[in-house]
Amino acid sequence: MTRFTPTTLAGPDLTLRPLGPQDVDAVVAACADPQTQRWTSVPQPYERRHAQDFIEVAAPRALEGNTGIVFALDDGSGLVGCLDLKNTDWTTRCTEVGYWVAPAARGRGLASAATRLLAEWAIRARLIERVELRAAPGNAASLAVAARAGFTREGVARNAGVVKGGRVDLVVFSFVSGDL
Ligand SMILES: CC(C)(COP(=O)(O)OP(=O)(O)OC[C@H]1O[C@@H](n2cnc3c(N)ncnc32)[C@H](O)[C@@H]1OP(=O)(O)O)[C@@H](O)C(=O)NCCC(=O)NCCS
Repeated sequence: MTRFTPTTLAGPDLTLRPLGPQDVDAVVAACADPQTQRWTSVPQPYERRHAQDFIEVAAPRALEGNTGIVFALDDGSGLVGCLDLKNTDWTTRCTEVGYWVAPAARGRGLASAATRLLAEWAIRARLIERVELRAAPGNAASLAVAARAGFTREGVARNAGVVKGGRVDLVVFSFVSGDL
């Protein structure tokens, strides 16, 4: 069966690389941010043990179970964000991308460039045929990332997600092999 294996991907001003113990402090700082708290499912309050568990248990488990793969987004100064592929269906070769970027690194195009890099890699490596991206209608920055990364908006999945404010619809975008 096709598997995700630990990989490093190089973009123009960023690298997507495996997470390591050196990333704990940066993950704690970024995941305590109110916007990350609001729009993702990270624990609240976000403590050091959550980052340790994410790096030492959750990320390796995704790889071992072949359900997904987690990357540190590194701009050369260290971890400034995180991207992952998750909910992978190997029968249909569909997966879903998720991301967050630390507040100080936002607005530089990093999430958009990293999302495109990751989607293109997954398809060019003949792992995946369709990368889905789902974002709450109120999450303007994430909707902008999807568009900038070249994803196509398909519609709205009603009552499909949960953010800190409660249940939400999710806008569904995709990037497929035919988009290359
Ligand atoms: C979404 C997120 C990852 C974007 O990271 P980023 O590196 O700043 O993204 P980029 O710089 O690639 O692009 C951001 C885009 O959002 C736009 N944007 C940012 N804040 C915005 C806002 N409040 N309203 C509208 N657009 C906004 C920027 O202008 C930019 O679009 P543009 O280049 O067309 O102007 C970051 O804001 C984040 O971590 N948010 C919290 C976690 C989260 O929401 N994750 C996604 C869950 S689906």
